[in-house]
Amino acid sequence: MLQAENNDLLQSRDPHWLQYHIMPPTGLLNDPNGLIHFKGKYHVFYQWNPFATSHGAKFWGHCTSSDLVSWQVEKTALAPSHWFDKNGCYSGSAIDHEGKMYLFYTGNVKDAEGNRQTYQCMAVSDDGKSFRKKGPVIRLPKGFTAHFRDPKVFSHNGQFYMVIGAQNIEKNGCCVLFVSQNLYDWEYMGILAGSRHNGWGDYGYMWECPDLFSQDNKDVLLICPQGIQPQGEKYRNIYQAGYFLGEMDYQNSTFHAGSFTELDCGFDFYAPQTFLDERGRRILIAWMGITDENEALHPTIAYRWVHAMTIPREVLVKDEKLYQRPVPELKKLRCHYKAWNNVVINGETEQLKTTGKSLELCFTRMDINNEAFFSIDFWGYTTLAYDAKQQKLILTRKSLKNKSCDEQRVCSIKSLSALQIFLDASSLEIFVNDGEKVFTARIFPDSNQNSITLSSLGKTAYSLEKWDLNPMNN
Ligand code: FRU
Repeated sequence: MLQAENNDLLQSRDPHWLQYHIMPPTGLLNDPNGLIHFKGKYHVFYQWNPFATSHGAKFWGHCTSSDLVSWQVEKTALAPSHWFDKNGCYSGSAIDHEGKMYLFYTGNVKDAEGNRQTYQCMAVSDDGKSFRKKGPVIRLPKGFTAHFRDPKVFSHNGQFYMVIGAQNIEKNGCCVLFVSQNLYDWEYMGILAGSRHNGWGDYGYMWECPDLFSQDNKDVLLICPQGIQPQGEKYRNIYQAGYFLGEMDYQNSTFHAGSFTELDCGFDFYAPQTFLDERGRRILIAWMGITDENEALHPTIAYRWVHAMTIPREVLVKDEKLYQRPVPELKKLRCHYKAWNNVVINGETEQLKTTGKSLELCFTRMDINNEAFFSIDFWGYTTLAYDAKQQKLILTRKSLKNKSCDEQRVCSIKSLSALQIFLDASSLEIFVNDGEKVFTARIFPDSNQNSITLSSLGKTAYSLEKWDLNPMNN
């Protein structure tokens, strides 16, 4: 009780407490796990260290929702309590089979010398609330290091498949495939894709958190490679999250694909996972953070929590590209509507006064002169700018390491026609041209800042709608 009161007190003073994002009640949250729509309810589990704002022996936190907007905290689903998961119930997935929910996760085990062992484990639930552990169903096959984790289970043509993120003994990242008829007995089918595998290029030393699905007649392999070097505008974060579009050949356990594309152009996006909901939509949620990326410098640590999930996004494939769009249910949060139609700015600035920091902005009918430089400054902390001459969209924020320095992420985009922007107390998610590109970032503006400033050198025209967003459990 005392703990709960302390938490309420901390929350009421915390300027960065998010209003409509999934976040940990306390401690550290990382990857989304076990995303599923089960018996009419959406379930999100997450990697959780309830005891500290650093990584450690992970639990599976759990929350549910009937609309993807309001989330209820459920009791902890998995705790690191057995010989096969004593140093962490690491990431994994969920599947509905004959009315039961099956969770698959990695049991992380370390000995006194810090040597790692990995077990792919199962847990079962009848009601989606209490889980019975069944122990390991897969041991480490030959040819891999113990960096072998994050099982994603799905069904295809009457069989169950599992993809796992791995590192082979040559220290190349890869994704492996298993098949099963009953979810208990699994057969190893081989490496389906990997760095330096079957003529592929160098995609790093480890692949985490794979996901494989088909969407709009394409097969999509999501992965999080570690060890890719920055190349110009690309791969600027410490670890990447992205996709290959191609064709999955289940007969030969091979994924045929072209190049790798990052899913997000911003600073804080990792371990995305998707699921199909009962309406047939493919929905993606990612961790709005990245391991080892200045985590200890987040100001929320003073309030005993760190990190959050992105908003749920619907995934579509169009013109060989993966699009992400905020789920329309989020419109429920909207209040205090304002609109500005056919605005033209040229040399001057427009100020939008804000009363809180949870809001949505929709720019449409944008027409930016091809010499113009249009920018939006959010509370003096972050700027999004479009340089029409260079055809570049640039997100700048104050560095967490040194507030007097800025850091940037850039993406090339031929024209800018629409922006849908979700701001929460300490987050920014920008959907460009109806989800063609997305920038996700944590931001930590001063609480006394109350304006968003639009400016343009050269002529920019747009229409703008603005809503304040209510807290999710209003
Ligand atoms: C990705 C990851 C996973 C692992 C989990 C541990 O962020 O490293 O590979 O299962 O986090 O929390």
